[in-house]
Amino acid sequence: MIVGVPKEIKEGEFRVAMTPGGANALVADGHKVLVQCGAGAGSGIADDEYRKAGAELVAEPQTLYERAELLMKVKEPLPSEYPMLRRGQMLFTYLHLASSEELIRALLDAGIIGIAYETVQTADFRLPLLEPMSEVAGKMASQLAAQYLQKHYGGRGVLMGGVTGVKPAEVVVLGCGFVGANAVKVAAGMGARVSAFDINTLRLAYLDDTYGSAVTSLYSNSWVVADAVARADIVIGAVLLPGARAPWAITEEMIKSMRPGTVIVDVAIDQGGCVENIRPTTHAEPIYVEHGVTHYAVTNIPAAVPRTATYALTNSTLSYARKLAALGAEKAMAEDPALALGLNLADGLIKHDAVHEAFPHLA
Ligand SMILES: NC(=O)c1ccc[n+]([C@@H]2O[C@H](COP(=O)([O-])OP(=O)(O)OC[C@H]3O[C@@H](n4cnc5c(N)ncnc54)[C@H](O)[C@@H]3O)[C@@H](O)[C@H]2O)c1
Repeated sequence: MIVGVPKEIKEGEFRVAMTPGGANALVADGHKVLVQCGAGAGSGIADDEYRKAGAELVAEPQTLYERAELLMKVKEPLPSEYPMLRRGQMLFTYLHLASSEELIRALLDAGIIGIAYETVQTADFRLPLLEPMSEVAGKMASQLAAQYLQKHYGGRGVLMGGVTGVKPAEVVVLGCGFVGANAVKVAAGMGARVSAFDINTLRLAYLDDTYGSAVTSLYSNSWVVADAVARADIVIGAVLLPGARAPWAITEEMIKSMRPGTVIVDVAIDQGGCVENIRPTTHAEPIYVEHGVTHYAVTNIPAAVPRTATYALTNSTLSYARKLAALGAEKAMAEDPALALGLNLADGLIKHDAVHEAFPHLA
């Protein structure tokens, strides 16, 4: 099979879908791997490293899209990429379709087989291709929030860990899956006072067992959340209902109750956001202020640490990519139920229930 790895063109996106080691494994399996020139540059990977791994370097994206049977990407295609997609071509990437009707329509028109990293799910309900980026984004969320809490960034001017005789920052984390638990880890590690909310008591029990009294775990409902965020310095949103649009865990009323300079980091923005009326931001302009509260809602946080993120991503996607390349979409999915749950689009139709529920009027 011909596997294509284009250069990502989304603003601020420096990751690439495959490391030279991953390309080499596919080549060893007998496949041809096409890598667009400069695709790895943002992650500090030179074209020559791909060449040494056995990949073929391709100058023009048009040529790569035309020849590839399996396209490996990081982010969803942008409008300039839509015309290059081919009917029946496999597209294996983060799609986040529940947040964009325009994208769904474009991909249905293109007739691709869309397999979304974020909905590949194992029998024990793990999301193995979301986990590595969630770990990165969760750790980054606390790191970034600490930065925006500084006065010259418009924050309340509170130090995460406080100092002797002065209390630390109050951090609220909503949703304690992979993102949330990693945000808790870094915030608690910096010495902040952390309240962690979830509706899954197993996640809360994990935090209790891990951190004891250093982290307060709380069952999430809007009453207790409203009380906590009004007193918080930092609110990190990380709730997820797999494949579906994120629920609004933070309402506008709650935001109005927060103190000026409080920082919200809505990591769930790639699924529409768990903060009412939040707008996606970019690495170029990561924050805006509304009701005196700093909002950070970058949809591709891991792109800020591409070297770490690219390697973590390939570590997780490679085994599935090898299966798709060896067997083709239909057989690979028949053999692997986790991969089958990644199928979002095929034959011009939506194939994932949660995506369908988000846009019931579409095919
Ligand atoms: N912006 C980015 O760059 C970026 C990067 C990685 C992940 N994400 C996103 O972060 C979000 C979280 O990802 P994850 O891997 O941690 O998912 P996860 O499934 O591991 O965790 C989500 C948690 O939310 C909890 N939850 C659901 N509804 C809730 C509610 N009403 N109140 C409190 N908790 C609730 C679930 O029980 C679960 O524990 C996803 O939307 C994911 O796409 C964004």
